[in-house]
Amino acid sequence: MSNEKRHRVSRRQFLTYTLTGVGGFMAAGMLSPMVRMALDPALEAGADSEFVSIGISEDELTDEPQRVDFQMELEDGWYTSEQARSAWIYKEGDEIIALSPTCTHLGCTVNWDSNENFPEQFYCPCHDGRFERDGTNIEGTPPTRPLDIYDVEVRDGAIYLGQINQRS
Ligand code: FES
Repeated sequence: MSNEKRHRVSRRQFLTYTLTGVGGFMAAGMLSPMVRMALDPALEAGADSEFVSIGISEDELTDEPQRVDFQMELEDGWYTSEQARSAWIYKEGDEIIALSPTCTHLGCTVNWDSNENFPEQFYCPCHDGRFERDGTNIEGTPPTRPLDIYDVEVRDGAIYLGQINQRS
């Protein structure tokens, strides 16, 4: 009798542990993307950030998009992180355009004028996505919206980039 009782208790404990474990695992799977986005909102277009110098001056810009890599410090309450960023930047008349190189289809990196079949366009090698010089997505290719665009400031001739903005 006591043996049987001990056996029954142990089975109940086994079920409790198993269900707790499976429930915890499922909850972690559902919550982890939310926690990640809460801690790292800069991954999303539109996240708040300061303007940072990208190490080039306005004089160095031409009407040909050039890729610039830089670091951006991002703060979200108590959480500060340093992130590597890139932009395709060029001059359009008096305006300075700085585009995100992240393809708006599934996030690969686009390059300017890199495919001989599609000159003078941003080309994404992952699924043949294409964008015009101003970042507009080309119809009939996978991306359904333009490349995101940075806020730009010029201070004493130096280029500063800020928040990334999503366009539709
Ligand atoms: S990720 Fe660029 S076309 Fe799919």
